[in-house]
Order: sequence, then structure tokens, then C-alpha cells
Amino acid sequence: MSEKNSMTRREALKKMGMVAAGIGLGIGGVNATDVLGLSEKEEKRGKMKVLAINGSSRKDGNTADMLNLVLGELKKEGYETEHIQLAGHTINPCKACFACAGKKNCVLGNDMFQELYQKMTEADAIILGSSTYSADVSSTLKAVIERASVVSDTNPGMFRHKIGGAVAVARRAGAMNTIDTINHFFLNKEMYVAGSTYWNIAYGRLPGEAMKDEEGVANMKNLGQNIAWLLRRI
Ligand SMILES: Cc1cc2nc3c(=O)[nH]c(=O)nc-3n(C[C@H](O)[C@H](O)[C@H](O)COP(=O)(O)O)c2cc1C
Repeated sequence: MSEKNSMTRREALKKMGMVAAGIGLGIGGVNATDVLGLSEKEEKRGKMKVLAINGSSRKDGNTADMLNLVLGELKKEGYETEHIQLAGHTINPCKACFACAGKKNCVLGNDMFQELYQKMTEADAIILGSSTYSADVSSTLKAVIERASVVSDTNPGMFRHKIGGAVAVARRAGAMNTIDTINHFFLNKEMYVAGSTYWNIAYGRLPGEAMKDEEGVANMKNLGQNIAWLLRRI
């Protein structure tokens, strides 16, 4: 349990004392539901899901390491996490058929997109991560973003008030575009975007190299903590 969490508990216990005193003395203005709300909140946290989608073509590479750092912070806080790596999978592009209107998912079932989209709609927070390819997200993640955008455009509100976090890894340059592409999706879908310092980017080329980028690693942990902070408030 983190310090942040234990502070919240202490504050809540203090409040419980105040409520007991308030009820005992018959003083108004102390809200007993605040106390009842504590266990409900803790129960809710255990049920909240965080989904990370990794657009890299390399399984267990740098992007995977960075996403695991973000998810590690959320696991510590009691959230259910899942990390889906798209490496080895083909996500077909949007066919622009708009047949998804009213269906709440894409109608094309010839790849893993439908399952992915279902999981995205069930998650309370979505972290999209990508290695930087040609100064942007991978084409695999772009296909996910394009199809998810159209399905949620034709079925409005499916991502409303979820939390989004972007993660990028690059060897040298172009990672800002990767972050921007992901954040444009979140912001266009009524989501709250969690930030970190220096735009959630880590640097590395070969697998494992990004873990040596101390600032990048700290950024990812901070992003995880910031997503947890937001989750406690929705
Ligand atoms: C197709 C391709 C394009 C790339 N384009 C860029 C780029 O524009 N800028 C950059 O800094 N690195 C680029 N890289 C390097 C990767 O972003 C880098 O190796 C990263 O660590 C890979 O992450 P991963 O291990 O999760 O796949 C490219 C790599 C590939 C395979």
C-alpha cells in the first residue's frame, strides 16, 4: 500500500471518528455516507480495469517494458491490469463501411479487433503504447485507433470519462508525434488524459535499452501513479 493510499485511509478514519462523534452528540452537518462510501470506493477500485495495448511489432521489447512499469504502479494500487501485445497480429484497416452504427463494435470479424474493442470499452483506463515508427505510432496501432475512432463515432459516448495514457519509445526522434497521435484519439473521445513529465517517452533501440533510460523509467512510473490518482477520482 502506497503512502498516498495510507494517507487517504488515515483521513477516512479521522472522518469516521468525526461522524461517530457527530451522531453521538446529535450534531448535524456530518455526512455518514462519507464513511459508508469508503468501503464502496475500495471495492470499486478492485473492480476497475486498466488495459494497456502495445502497438510494437516486437514482443517483450522496449514498449512492453515501459507499459509494464506503468501497469506495475497501478497493480500496487489494487487495480486489475491487462497488457495486450499486438506483435504477431495483423489488424486490418477500417473499410469505411460505417456498418458499425448502432452495433457498438466493428462488424469485421477477421482479426482480433472486435475482442480488443470490447476490452477497451470495458476498461476504466486505456494506455496505448507504441514504438516510434517513421516518426509516429506503428501502423498496427494506427489501425486500432482508426477503427476504434469510427466505431465510437457511430456509437457516441463509448469512451466518455475513461482515462487515457500514452506511452512512446524511440531510438532517437519522432516520439512526440507518437504521443500526439495517441492523445488525439483520447481527447476526441471525451476521455481524461493523464500526463507525466517529458511526455511519457523513453529512449532505446535494442530490447532492454529503454530500461536504462532513467528519466524515461521515472516518467513511466509517474504516469502510472497519475493514472491511479485520476482513477480514484472518477
Ligand atoms: C519500422 C521502424 C521504424 C522506426 N522508426 C523510428 C523513428 O522514426 N524514430 C526513432 O527514433 N526510432 C525509430 N525506430 C526505432 C524504434 O522506435 C526503437 O528501436 C524502439 O526501441 C523499438 O521499440 P520496441 O522494442 O518496443 O519495438 C524504428 C524502428 C522500426 C522497426
